[in-house]
Amino acid sequence: MEKQGERCGKLVLVPCPFQGHINPMLQLAAILKSKGFSITIAHTQFNSPNPSNHHDFTFLPIPDGISDRDAATMDFMALITALNANSEVPLRERLSPMMKQEEQNDRIACIIYDAIMYKTEAVANHLKIPSIVLETGSAATLLTYAAVPRLQADGYIPLQDSMSQDLVPLLHPFRFKDLPIFNFPNLEALLQLLATTSNIKTSSAIILNTLDCLEHPSLAPLQKHYQVPIFSMGPFHKIAPPSSSSLLKEDTNCISWLDKQSPNSVIYVSIGSVASIDERELVETAWGLANSGQPFLWVVRPGSIRGLEWLALLPESFKETVEERGCIVEWAPQKEVLAHGAVGGFWSHCGWNSTLESTCEGVPMVCRPCFGDQRMNARCLSHVWRVGLELENELQRGEIERTIRRLMVGKEGEEMRRSAIDLKLKVELSIEKVNTRIDWKETPEAHVFKADL
Ligand code: UDX
Repeated sequence: MEKQGERCGKLVLVPCPFQGHINPMLQLAAILKSKGFSITIAHTQFNSPNPSNHHDFTFLPIPDGISDRDAATMDFMALITALNANSEVPLRERLSPMMKQEEQNDRIACIIYDAIMYKTEAVANHLKIPSIVLETGSAATLLTYAAVPRLQADGYIPLQDSMSQDLVPLLHPFRFKDLPIFNFPNLEALLQLLATTSNIKTSSAIILNTLDCLEHPSLAPLQKHYQVPIFSMGPFHKIAPPSSSSLLKEDTNCISWLDKQSPNSVIYVSIGSVASIDERELVETAWGLANSGQPFLWVVRPGSIRGLEWLALLPESFKETVEERGCIVEWAPQKEVLAHGAVGGFWSHCGWNSTLESTCEGVPMVCRPCFGDQRMNARCLSHVWRVGLELENELQRGEIERTIRRLMVGKEGEEMRRSAIDLKLKVELSIEKVNTRIDWKETPEAHVFKADL
């Protein structure tokens, strides 16, 4: 029988340079490394990952001509466009010599790229390297992107406020207001990006960081839509050996603080790496947390409060509450936090990584989505898996206080906690199946890798 180590081939992985995309790509890299592949991470210099956290990988910086100062003045769409445009030629130039190696094993067997780094496909085609697309969001989100041309043809786009509560045809249980295109300020550019990234024609396969037990209803139609194999190989963070790919320094003091709290008592609050709130929302959140009576661990990322230097605005009386039963950090070791027995609830913006990380630990959620795929994830958490309560209206301290109590101490919360534990168990079973199902010699994705080995 062939041993895993004997089937080594060189894989180049191209992450999109944002935390919510870097994490799953580096986790996938660690999984592939553990199967015997050699890994090169071709990354933009903007938001570059820290090589010292990943000694097993080779890091290949790709010049992108974008300084942090430029990036701060660009909107998301402009930044994505510039990153793609600026990195295409340097990426090709750096990969090209690797294809001229004499030893077959030194040549690149396959490029795996984040769907948002769409120009990589042209590079792979030019160098005649097989490619695989990594979609870092949910299957439901990808299915929605695939449905956009149909929604356009049927006259639903641009979406109107009046239909926000209506269910989207063929995409239940999502409402129009849950779609990533709802209220998007630069809709034309977004539709163009979706058309580009969903047009997967020459790639050999799509990898998703999801599980059949979570997303079966979306996976089946997705496989029908795309002509290439789709592999749900998640949750990556549970399958990969533990590691951190944080761009910000994790404050581990919060773990010793958690050690002193009672089981299931703490509400953990974080809005991820991109979302932000305004001053009013900051104040309402602070008082909602204080009035809930629960201990809280609150991540307030620098730059996450629009127009404010971190917590300057909070009054002395709130600071007293923090001393009594709160802990505020700039960035937390989130996976460790969610796995801690003291954490009983997660108030989240519902990014897909946070959604998976919470689900894997059986932690019920307060869902406060901000933009993009987060509203769809929140809808699944609250209405499909029934492990979350959605905070839908304008943030008000009274509603925040009630929602936290409903989740943390009410009967409803108890049921939700049970559902979250049931879901965690299902996920664990499914992970065992992924580990046994993916025989890296027999499955089609292995053939893709093997094609050029
Ligand atoms: C972005 C989008 O907003 C999200 O909707 C999309 O699904 C992925 O890209 P982000 O907003 O950062 O991601 O959210 P999320 O997907 O939850 O990823 C955040 C990551 O940062 C998680 O892996 C989380 O564990 C980590 N994190 C967050 C920390 O390590 N520490 C923190 O304090 C907060």
